[in-house]
Amino acid sequence: MNPVPRHVAIIMDGNGRWAERRGLPRSQGHRAGADAVTRGLEVALELGVEVLTLYAFSTENWKRPASEVSALMGLLVEFLASKLPEMRSKGVRLRTIGRTSGLPAAAANALLNAVSDTADGGKITLNLALNYGGRAELADAAKRLAADAAAGKVDPRKVDEGVFARYLYAPDLPDPDLLIRTGGEMRLSNFLLWELAYTEIYVTDCLWPDFSREEFLRAVENYGKRERRFGNHA
Ligand code: FPP
Repeated sequence: MNPVPRHVAIIMDGNGRWAERRGLPRSQGHRAGADAVTRGLEVALELGVEVLTLYAFSTENWKRPASEVSALMGLLVEFLASKLPEMRSKGVRLRTIGRTSGLPAAAANALLNAVSDTADGGKITLNLALNYGGRAELADAAKRLAADAAAGKVDPRKVDEGVFARYLYAPDLPDPDLLIRTGGEMRLSNFLLWELAYTEIYVTDCLWPDFSREEFLRAVENYGKRERRFGNHA
């Protein structure tokens, strides 16, 4: 399959609807969503994708009922504990973007451990966006850049796109080539606002827990047919 996107970002939407259609609590939809994360990671590894960024918890998700938030945090901790050995053996390097220090301590600590335990993974980077918001990322970058400017470490006259980008959460990762959104909604939902500038977008009605290997391959195949121009129409 050619060409394979180096970096795939996914807005994993539709867990709630998946559960509601089955008369199950939303937490069961998120549990099925965690299985789809495992499946998606396997396909990304198989395809040779270098970075897989997943929108797992947004800065807006705190507005959900406390029981749903704690179910999501519990699932994250469970996922990290159960998948860590496999991630290590398969060369998965775990990273995070977002205000992760603002997560409940159990989740924040499990993440710190998993990130350090997988730091030498060379096959794929699994980048989890947690307590993540695109505007928060830009505001955090501006705050740190302003502090460096005030301290005389950066000349404000020399601030350009390249300088600014170094203050984002993961400046070493390439921008996503392909954004997949499941659940059918045509919006960005405050995800990677800077990084998605030239990304190809693929929206599918498939709900995240149903996102299969075939669905993933279909998205990548569709991407392979796109002509990327990066604003250049010559
Ligand atoms: C959107 O579905 C999904 C989320 C808010 C959370 C995504 C979390 C997971 C896939 C599971 C845990 C993640 C990991 C990394 C183990 P929704 O509830 O907004 O669905 P709806 O639009 O149908 O209501």
